Amino acid sequence: MLTLAQQARAARAFVDAALATEHAPVDPVLAGRLDAHFPILFEHYSAVYGDRADCLDRLADLVRLLADAWAERADDLKVLDAAREADPGWFLSNRMLGGVCYVDRYAGDLEGVRSRIPYFKELGLTYLHLMPLFAAPERNSDGGYAVSSYREVAPALGDMATLQSLAADLRVAGISLVVDLIFNHTSNEHAWAQRALAGEPEYEAYYRIFPDRTMPDAYDKTTREIFPDDHRGSFVQLPDGRWVWSTFYSFQWDLNYANPAVFNAMAGELLFLANVGVDILRMDAVAFIWKELGTSCESLPQAHTLLRAFNAVCRITAPSVLFKSEAIVHPDEVVQYISPEECQLSYNPLQMALTWEALATRDASLLSQALERRHAIDPGCAWVNYVRSHDDIGWTFADEDAAELGVDAAAHRRFLNAFYVNRFPGSFARGVPFQENPRTGDARVSGTTASLAGLESGEPGAAQRILLAHAIALSTGGVPLVYLGDEVGQLNDYGYLADPDHAGDSRWVHRPPRPADRYAERNDPDSDAGTIYRGMRRLIAVRRATDELAGGALVGFHTHNPHVLGYQRPGASGAVLVLANVSDAPQLVPAEAFSALPATAVDLLTEAETSLWADLELAPLEFLWLQV
Ligand code: GLC
Ligand code: GLC
Repeated sequence: MLTLAQQARAARAFVDAALATEHAPVDPVLAGRLDAHFPILFEHYSAVYGDRADCLDRLADLVRLLADAWAERADDLKVLDAAREADPGWFLSNRMLGGVCYVDRYAGDLEGVRSRIPYFKELGLTYLHLMPLFAAPERNSDGGYAVSSYREVAPALGDMATLQSLAADLRVAGISLVVDLIFNHTSNEHAWAQRALAGEPEYEAYYRIFPDRTMPDAYDKTTREIFPDDHRGSFVQLPDGRWVWSTFYSFQWDLNYANPAVFNAMAGELLFLANVGVDILRMDAVAFIWKELGTSCESLPQAHTLLRAFNAVCRITAPSVLFKSEAIVHPDEVVQYISPEECQLSYNPLQMALTWEALATRDASLLSQALERRHAIDPGCAWVNYVRSHDDIGWTFADEDAAELGVDAAAHRRFLNAFYVNRFPGSFARGVPFQENPRTGDARVSGTTASLAGLESGEPGAAQRILLAHAIALSTGGVPLVYLGDEVGQLNDYGYLADPDHAGDSRWVHRPPRPADRYAERNDPDSDAGTIYRGMRRLIAVRRATDELAGGALVGFHTHNPHVLGYQRPGASGAVLVLANVSDAPQLVPAEAFSALPATAVDLLTEAETSLWADLELAPLEFLWLQV
């Protein structure tokens, strides 16, 4: 075993040799970062590729790529790098607020996004996720998740120079730019895919291509079908009869990360985007990047090793850049991606799904259990808490957690699916099924927040239910993320059914164009849009002013009433106690629940003083943020 000092010397010698000729002398800042992080990159890279004869050659290529990217990195980004290195918790602030939108649907093009910056500031955004905006196949692109070139913006949206200047303008406005790194797969029109199809061996090795069904059949025994409406299993047939791995749509081909050239190529794309000025990369479909026969091919150990290696790439050359994990999988697996060395941010699909679960059942037990048991993560990392995303809602809670509460998971998922697609009598929700799989009984749900919450069906409590769902996402910590348009209550858009490219994918029902009419009403207190918007503004303003809501520390609170969710957010000098009645009837929290608290508390949202020495009644769907 080498000592750490010996390892560092060996790493330094390796880097020096790789950079010996055209890169010398190495910039001292880069040299310092290489000293600190190259040993980590080396460790992870060799863990995955060490048994290949070309491992060290490919690693030397990667080192040169890092040095080139550093040489091209703009000075203002280098200043940002240093500032964020000195303040690594910058994104844990209670002032962080995310928004997400499609460039075309929300603003036409990138210039349109720029013209919306005043509104983003009005709302208080500090984080803007622009949905995939890269060159993609004209018709089938899975909403941009089939990328044909990571270095080109889709022509209808603008170009890279515009994206770069938009990133700079957003930064001036205090807004971090988030884009996807769709690194599990490319589109079948990407140059790498085209060259693979043409039979160039170098590029064939970028994908997982098999001559016949032998290996595909073997893998398919244990993998999950993600888009069964599109194709069965995980492979699609090429025109020449061969089979290519394709987890998602048939035009999205999975990259072969067993090939270090693929890692290096994607590191190059990653650093290109970092140098355009992207602050956070949403790491798409992280669970799927490594495949191993006889396994589910999801969340395998090498997926983590590769992410850590990519993270080290950033720490060396673009240290201001963070990763957000998109792992919509079992909660035990979701948390495995979260660490300062891997993904500093992660979607919180469990809290999202259980918020809807609580609203359907009018019972907060499962959500409350999840908050107590599954909310704690590394204090240097953050959940991205959202009410819904551009994707479907899947019921990703753990069967064993449900069983502890006497809930049969399979039956409960059937109920939730039925409830949210309005097949359950009396449901307030107007969702649409997504990828119902008759072979497995699996299904997920599409729909906008407002339509799922009852605004479309005309349910009286709908606006309050929408606010309640956001009040949870805005008070459990991390970075709350609003799907733009939901803050004015946008409804489902059934127009997708008339578009042959979208009709087969119900997720388009909840990706409507920017609801201009509702935005126009946002300051009219008599409209639904105005009611929701005013409530959202209040939640956001109070959150910004409340230090306890920074970070992610959360302590459970037993309300003695299953219809009322409770939790505390401890701060330096007190705590915020959140109570939320998820039912549509008034509910009591008995005085005994507050026995450890002072006699009165102020609700930060209404500024009303509340006595805690008596039973506390919450109106239907009422929520309180009590300073205690
Ligand atoms: C992610 C995206 C989803 C897309 C899939 C394939 O899950 O969120 O929209 O279909 O990846 O890229
Ligand atoms: C994600 C998920 C899957 C989700 C899909 C997008 O990566 O794992 O459950 O529904 O892609 O719809």
